Amino acid sequence: MAQEKSIEKNIDSLLQQMTLEEKVGQMNQYNGFWDVTGPAPQGGNAEIKYEHLKKGLVGSMLNVVGTEEVRKLQKLVVEETRLGIPLIFGYDVIHGYKTLAPIPLAEAASWDMEAIENSAKIAAQEASAVGLNWTFAPMVDISRDPRWGRVMEGGGEDTYLGAEIAKARVKGFQGDDLSKPNTLAACAKHFAAYGFAEAGKEYNTADIGTSTLYNAVLPPFKAAVDADVKTLMNGFNILNGIPVTGNKMLQRDILKEKWGFDGFVISDWSSVGEMVPHGFAEDLKHAAELGVKAGSDMDMESSAYVLHLVENVKEGKVDESLIDDAVRRILRVKFELGLFEDPYKYCNEEREKEELYHEDHQAAVLDMALKSIVLLKNDDNLLPLKKDQQKIAVIGQLANDNNSSLGSWRLGSDNNTGVSVLEGLKNQSINFSYEQGPRIFNEEANFLNEVKVNETDTSGMQEAVALAKESDVVLMVLGEHGFQSGEGRSRTQLDLPGLQLDLLKAVHEVNKNIVLILMNGRPLAIHWEAENIPAILETWQLGSQAGNAITEALFGDYNPSGKLPMTFPRSVGQVPIYYNHFSTGRPDPESTVFWTHYGDEKNEPLFPFGHGLSYTTFKYTDLEIDTNNQNSIEVSATIQNIGKVTGKEVVQLYIHDKVASVVRPVKELKGFQKISLAPGASQKVTFILTDKELGFYNHDYEFVVEPGTFGVMVGTNSQEGLTGTFVLN
Ligand code: NOJ
Repeated sequence: MAQEKSIEKNIDSLLQQMTLEEKVGQMNQYNGFWDVTGPAPQGGNAEIKYEHLKKGLVGSMLNVVGTEEVRKLQKLVVEETRLGIPLIFGYDVIHGYKTLAPIPLAEAASWDMEAIENSAKIAAQEASAVGLNWTFAPMVDISRDPRWGRVMEGGGEDTYLGAEIAKARVKGFQGDDLSKPNTLAACAKHFAAYGFAEAGKEYNTADIGTSTLYNAVLPPFKAAVDADVKTLMNGFNILNGIPVTGNKMLQRDILKEKWGFDGFVISDWSSVGEMVPHGFAEDLKHAAELGVKAGSDMDMESSAYVLHLVENVKEGKVDESLIDDAVRRILRVKFELGLFEDPYKYCNEEREKEELYHEDHQAAVLDMALKSIVLLKNDDNLLPLKKDQQKIAVIGQLANDNNSSLGSWRLGSDNNTGVSVLEGLKNQSINFSYEQGPRIFNEEANFLNEVKVNETDTSGMQEAVALAKESDVVLMVLGEHGFQSGEGRSRTQLDLPGLQLDLLKAVHEVNKNIVLILMNGRPLAIHWEAENIPAILETWQLGSQAGNAITEALFGDYNPSGKLPMTFPRSVGQVPIYYNHFSTGRPDPESTVFWTHYGDEKNEPLFPFGHGLSYTTFKYTDLEIDTNNQNSIEVSATIQNIGKVTGKEVVQLYIHDKVASVVRPVKELKGFQKISLAPGASQKVTFILTDKELGFYNHDYEFVVEPGTFGVMVGTNSQEGLTGTFVLN
C-alpha cells in the first residue's frame, strides 16, 4: 500500500514536469531493427526513430534483445533525454525464449495449471536475462476455428479452461514480485474477439453476439486482470463494426471502468493506423484521436500518436486528461518493474550467459511436453510399444526434423535446436530403421513466408513402403510444419499437408500395425486416419525436448494424460464445431430432413473437447449431488483405475442450465481436477458449484444466477460421463 502510494506520488511529480510532447512520447512504441552500437540506421525510418529516442519521444521498444543492445538503448534514453524516463522493452515470449516449451495450445492439453505456470516462469527467467521486461503473452483468445493459424498460441475453445490458463500464465510470467529481475510484465491479448475471425481468415472481421462476447470471449481477459496482469493488447480485428483498437466500450467501459484495470493497453502492430483501411478513421491523425479516446494507451509502430496526438490536443480534439491517464498507466508499470530504481536491472551479462538453454529449463520443458501429449486412439493396446521385441520402422520427414516441433512464435530461439523423434529414439537406445518418404516441404520455411508444400514429387514413397512391409510396427510421424500455424497461417484444408495421406495409405496397404504420431499446431480433420489407423498420439509441437518426450510416451515410460482443449472436426465443413454450442429448436433426428444436421456428414466431431486416453482405464461411479448447503452445490463422483498401470485422469465437470433468460449452452465446463491413481486405486472427486459457476452475463453485462433445473455431468471428456440433475432454488 505504502509502495503504491509512493508510486502514485512519483508519477504525479513526473507528470507535472513533462511537456505534452514527452507525455505523448511515452505512448509511442517502436520496433528496433538496427544495430544500436551507435546511430547506425540500416534504412527505413531508423534515423527518425533514433532521433525520437534521444528527444524522449519513445516510451517503449519491441524486438530489441540481448543485454548489450538493451543496455545501450536504455543508456541513450536515460542519459540523453531531458527526464531520463527508462524504456520498457517488450517481446513476443510466447512459449519460451531459447529453451522452448510446447506451443500454448499443447500446454493447454495438459490441463495442468501448475505445470503451465511453471512453464511461463521458465520463459520469463530466460527472457528477462536478455534484457527484456515485458512479454506479449498470454494470448487468451478463445477460438472455435482451427482454420485460424493462431489457435496454436491460445488455450483452445473453452472459456473456463481458458480463464484458468490465463491466470496460470500471468502468474508464471509476473511471479509474486514484478520488481524482481527474473520476472516479466505479462500482456493478455488480443482484446477482444480476434479468435472469432470470420472463416478463420487472418485479420478478418469478428461479428458476434452480445452473449458470446460477454460469456465466451471476455472471461479469460477478466481472469487475467483479476490475476493482476499489467498490460493488455488490443487487436487487428473489427468487432461488430468497430475496430477493437478504437473500441471505447471494450477498453474504457468494460476493462478500465467495470474491471478496474490500472495497467495499460498497447495497440497491436500498427492497429491504430489500420483503422484507416478499415474505414473507421479518415487518416492517421484521426486514427490517433480515435485510438486514445477509446483507451488504447500505447501505439505499437504506427507512429500515429507520436506524429499527431500533440496536434489533436492543441486543436481541442483530444482532452489532455486522456493523455495523462495513459501516461500514468504506462509509468506505473515501469515503476512496478523497478525500472526507475535501476534501468539496467535486466541487463546482467553474466546472468544472460548462465540462463540460456539452462539444463533446469530443459528439464522443465520436457516435463511440460510429456504432460501435453494426448493419446487419441489406442486399439488393442498397441501402445505402449515394447523396447526390444519388435522391428520398428520410422517414416516421415517430420521424424527427422529439429525445427518443426519448435512450432511457431519462437522469435528468440535458434533454428534446429529441438530434439527430433529420431534423436529421441536413439537417446533411449531404441533400434529402428528410417525412411523419409516423400518430402512434405519444398524449401526451408521461416516465420515470415508461406510454407511451400510438396504436392507432386513422390520420390521416397517406394522406399518407405518397402521398409514398412518388412517391419513389425510402423511409426508414422506426420503433420504440419511448425510454421504452418501462427500469425498469417490460415488454412482451408485441415488435412495432412502434401502427400502425407497418400504415404500413410500406401504404408497401410502393406502393414496395418501403425502408430500415427501427429505433429501439428491446430486440430486436424483426419477422418480416414482415425478410422483406419489403430493408434494415434497427438504430440502437437512439443518444443525443445519433443523427441525425448515422444519416445517416453511411445514406450510407456510416461503414461499420456493430456485432453483435447479443442474439438477435432470430422470435416472442415463442420467448422466452427465446439462442444458448448446452443441447442437449436430441432436438435433430434426426424424421419424427414427437417432437423439440425448435414446431408453428407455427421453432427458429431471426430474427437470431442476434453478427449484423451491413457494406458490404463478409469471407471466413473457414484455420482452424488448435494443440494443441502446454503451457498453451493456439491457434486462428486468416484474414479477408479481399473487398468494395470498408474495413470493420471482429468476429471471434468459440465453443467447445463436448462432454461434461462438468455439461453445457455448444452454443456459448459465448470470444473476439472487432475488426479493420479495407482492400479486398483480409487478416489472420490468433489466439485463445489457456487454462483460463480452457475451464473452468466445477461445482455446488460450483469452477472445473474437464475433458479431452475441444471443438468450436470462428471466425465472423462465432454461427451462421456455420469449425468444427473439438480434444482437451484
Ligand atoms: C502482431 C501480433 O498480432 C501480436 O500478437 C504481436 O505481439 C505483435 N505483432 C508484436 O510482434
